[in-house]
Amino acid sequence: MPAPSAAMTEVYAARRAALFERLPESCAVVLASVPEARRNNDVSHEYRQHSDVHYLTGFTEPETLVLLVKDGETRRFELVVRPRDPERETWDGRRAGVEGATRDYKADAAHATADRRKALVEAIGNKRVLVFALGEDEAMDREIIGVLNDLRARGRRGPTPPAELHHPAATLHELRLFKRPEEAEAMQRAADVSAEAHARAMKAVRPGMTERQLQGVIEGTFRTLGSERNGYQSIVASGANATILHYHENDAVIGEQDLVLIDAGAEVDYYTADITRTFPASGRFTPAQRELYDLVLKAQLASIEQCRPGVTHEQVHDASVRVLTEGMVRLGLLSGDVDALVKDGKFKRYYMHGTAHWLGMDVHDVGAYRVAGESRPLEPGFVLTVEPGLYVAEDDQEAPERFRGLGVRIEDDVLVTEGAPRVLTAACPKDPEEIEALMAQARQES
Ligand code: GLY
Ligand code: MN
Ligand code: MN
Repeated sequence: MPAPSAAMTEVYAARRAALFERLPESCAVVLASVPEARRNNDVSHEYRQHSDVHYLTGFTEPETLVLLVKDGETRRFELVVRPRDPERETWDGRRAGVEGATRDYKADAAHATADRRKALVEAIGNKRVLVFALGEDEAMDREIIGVLNDLRARGRRGPTPPAELHHPAATLHELRLFKRPEEAEAMQRAADVSAEAHARAMKAVRPGMTERQLQGVIEGTFRTLGSERNGYQSIVASGANATILHYHENDAVIGEQDLVLIDAGAEVDYYTADITRTFPASGRFTPAQRELYDLVLKAQLASIEQCRPGVTHEQVHDASVRVLTEGMVRLGLLSGDVDALVKDGKFKRYYMHGTAHWLGMDVHDVGAYRVAGESRPLEPGFVLTVEPGLYVAEDDQEAPERFRGLGVRIEDDVLVTEGAPRVLTAACPKDPEEIEALMAQARQES
């Protein structure tokens, strides 16, 4: 992995400085990279750095610890890394090593893996607060407990163990929730790549193709346009498969009358997009498909309109719930009083998930949704998805027959600004007539 550019080096330093501002006095932060996951024998799953570690350092290697110490005037950033090892590097790839950690990643000090325990004891000892994500990884938990026991065992003459344990949620994850300008730019790049890939999938689809082939179009476009990996497992669901929320098989043959629901997002520079589009394999929506589609789109536009400072996360959801419930009554999917159907949660029969989640380095990004028990008001810099849908099971005997087996979701990524919501994924077609025109044009050209 090449060292970060001078510009990115400054970005990481600025993020660390912002975190130091938020940290309590006399504090040590310990952040660990995610462990490598073995797939079989000597083959690992694709490795991706823990977002917390990458956010503050740009360091991409496994077996890494980030140590931050705030004590009086002291602000120290240290790394524990795998040492250089020509033989291992021949097999597994380049390492920055201790030298690279200070030279290229600007750590004030760096330690090799063999000195991990010593570096941890030194960082944590005599600090009042330890910031550590207890419960994320058992091996790491045991390591920290070992360090605390070491400190306790040293008795009156040794360094004291911390009195408080804080989760990074209150400090680091709050910082990550507010996207800085360079993060909004990276998210726009991820959104642009993903929007183009969805448009290409709309153009490429033909009845008789498999979902997997369409997945190839979308993910091939991600890679071609510079995305290093997918932000999450792609869902390519045709026909009634679209009514399964986390459908991942992606192995069915796409039928002539099917709607195709694709939920896929590219990761670019460690930020992900999260887009869902639903379109007819034939190139034209049937009347029933169009009725559901128009309703979901109307709900989505109502929720996007809510993405403004001061509006709560829950209100964004409520806007979709109201439009969808009114529409479901009109279409004969539900019957009764809209207020009562909303209050009693009856809409969940066809709309069973939330409308929005934070988005950033992680698809379900960090940051609290509730503060002091209340749904949190949006603030400029938040990025959230807006993704209402309707899902009518194939065997739902109570639903009008023409809707059975249809699943529709429309998902965009929205940056909250001081003014109007900025839809990062606006380039991805979602107007039904625009989708049909795009598909018709692609068929003419092929
Ligand atoms: N693609 C995951 C989600 O929409 O939440
Ligand atoms: Mn989503
Ligand atoms: Mn999604």
